[in-house]
Amino acid sequence: MKTRNLVSKGQSNNPGPRHLAFIMDGNGRWAESRGMNRSQGHKAGLKALERIVLACSERNIPYVSFYAFSTENWKRPAREIRTIFLLMDLFFRRRMQDLKKRNIRILVSGDWEALPARSREIAETCIRETATATGITVNLCMNYGGQMEMRRACALWAARSHETGDYSLPDETEMRELLYSGLPDVDLMVRTGGDHRISNFLLYQMAYAELFFLEQPWPDFEEGLLQRVLNSFQNRERRMGGLGGAAPARGTKQGARLGSPG
Ligand code: FPP
Repeated sequence: MKTRNLVSKGQSNNPGPRHLAFIMDGNGRWAESRGMNRSQGHKAGLKALERIVLACSERNIPYVSFYAFSTENWKRPAREIRTIFLLMDLFFRRRMQDLKKRNIRILVSGDWEALPARSREIAETCIRETATATGITVNLCMNYGGQMEMRRACALWAARSHETGDYSLPDETEMRELLYSGLPDVDLMVRTGGDHRISNFLLYQMAYAELFFLEQPWPDFEEGLLQRVLNSFQNRERRMGGLGGAAPARGTKQGARLGSPG
């Protein structure tokens, strides 16, 4: 597999992220500002997702999560919800061979029992077909909510405790197994679209994530901007609750914004 060096000259404090997560916000506004309907925005959003999956694969970022449909998104009009599921189906059908060729593993996280049966089938096929891939893992969060994930984990653990009579807390490994995907913690979270919140996304896994909030809507997110975020991430000092070493790099404060690509 082709890999690129993530680190620009003289810039590296940190290794690149092991787990990179995206809140793909701004599709609707992107479309509306062009006189299109919101579904067109999600279509353009899918294209951006496909671009970024390839860019992450080329950079060998081990785990990449995308927030594609939240437990709160059911409040949207039925037509828009249908479009999002259809785009997911399209992605799996159109890209499965290419994902396999690129050695990319697909996971879907969330309570996806509630998804249309056909979408579940298509997703299951793609998950099965890519299960042995050893390249990067792409985790699509569908009908996902961080609070729901933790409530579910509590219920699973309570049932286990009841069975075994052991009422101790889960250790780190056991906790990972109780979550939807068991992926490592998120190192870097990027939200496009101008809002500064985490909206119930990977709440447990983001405890020490570096957060980047970008003004650009998701359909405009492209490789150059991704690289700028990665460079900036590598300049942040991550103390993880400790005291750290060097002083934080200038201009890389938590929540710092990036301008449009220069
Ligand atoms: C948020 O923008 C985006 C979503 C709720 C859906 C994102 C879904 C895709 C990009 C396609 C799904 C593809 C796969 C592979 C699962 P918004 O609609 O909230 O934007 P707005 O804030 O401008 O209204």
